[in-house]
Amino acid sequence: MGLFRGAGYLAITTLVLLSLVAGSQAKLKDQFTTWTPNGCNYSADGRAVDLVLRSKNEPYASMTSKKSWMYGQIGAWIKLASGNSAGTVTTLYLSSTGNKHCEFDYEFLGNETGQPYLLHTNIFVDGVGGREQQIRLWFDPTLDYHYYNFQWNKDLLVFYVDNTPIRMFRNLEGTVTNFLYPKACPMKLYLSMWDGSKWATQGGRVKLDWNAAPFIASYKNFRLNGCEAMQDDKTAIHNCQNSTYAAPGEKFQRMGGTRTKQLREVKNNYVHYNYCDDRPRYPEMPEECKYNVL
Ligand SMILES: *[C@@H]1O[C@H](CO)[C@@H](O)[C@H](O)[C@H]1NC(C)=O
Ligand SMILES: *[C@@H]1O[C@H](CO)[C@@H](O)[C@H](O)[C@H]1NC(C)=O
Ligand SMILES: *[C@@H]1O[C@H](CO)[C@@H](O)[C@H](O)[C@H]1NC(C)=O
Repeated sequence: MGLFRGAGYLAITTLVLLSLVAGSQAKLKDQFTTWTPNGCNYSADGRAVDLVLRSKNEPYASMTSKKSWMYGQIGAWIKLASGNSAGTVTTLYLSSTGNKHCEFDYEFLGNETGQPYLLHTNIFVDGVGGREQQIRLWFDPTLDYHYYNFQWNKDLLVFYVDNTPIRMFRNLEGTVTNFLYPKACPMKLYLSMWDGSKWATQGGRVKLDWNAAPFIASYKNFRLNGCEAMQDDKTAIHNCQNSTYAAPGEKFQRMGGTRTKQLREVKNNYVHYNYCDDRPRYPEMPEECKYNVL
């Protein structure tokens, strides 16, 4: 028994080391499906990519991971298009497919030169979204790379910016009537950039100006650390629900004091829009809002 455990431990350690090596050498080109070859410019070493909008004829750039994950920590370092980025929308999101899909979104809304981007986020479960929040960032996201990542387990989903939580979404099944938590929907990672002139900048008043093209958003240092499962693979999904990604430990399954305090600071200082506070839209505050700081 002791020997067996020892061997198991060794095997796991070796696997972890191997996957770390594989992770650091993996080429994005192999890990992602490139939908717009012209709009996805991979770096020479294959580990970074620029999404590029060049002209009206190609108003879209996108790529999607080949793998999908069910719980885990998924993210990337991103540097957004500088100068006049009005009308552009740059995204990093997880999504499943179908009409009952799940989706977690980071969408960066560009702006006129010198005016701040907004970070728009949303969460869909079972095809239902309508949970938009928008924050201003406490730095200029065009000057340098910043780290945006999702931490998703069976109890809690948190959106981070440079390791500061900007949004939480608790599993309130059993607490809030009819509440659904994303717990059986493996998702792929999507990167995209597109012309969102209709709504993105100052409510759609400022449109994308193609004279300011190319618009370039740079992504690197991807973290794809999740429980792998394809969308229709029930066995794999079940295994993920029972994995350490589902239950990575107290620290990740609850918002501790420090992170709650950070989230309150974001709430007090950086919120631009919060569906929870939109009474014309939701005459009664959605019940889930009571349980999530932001
Ligand atoms: C693509 O990226 C390389 C650097 O990796 C850069 O030198 C080149 O100018 C880029 N090309 C375009 C068309 O953006
Ligand atoms: C763009 O800048 C204007 C003026 O500062 C600001 O009101 C707006 O929230 C900014 N962001 C977007 C996406 O419109
Ligand atoms: C997985 O399931 C087994 C048996 O159902 C249980 O004992 C174990 O605690 C579960 N592991 C996790 C990580 O949830």
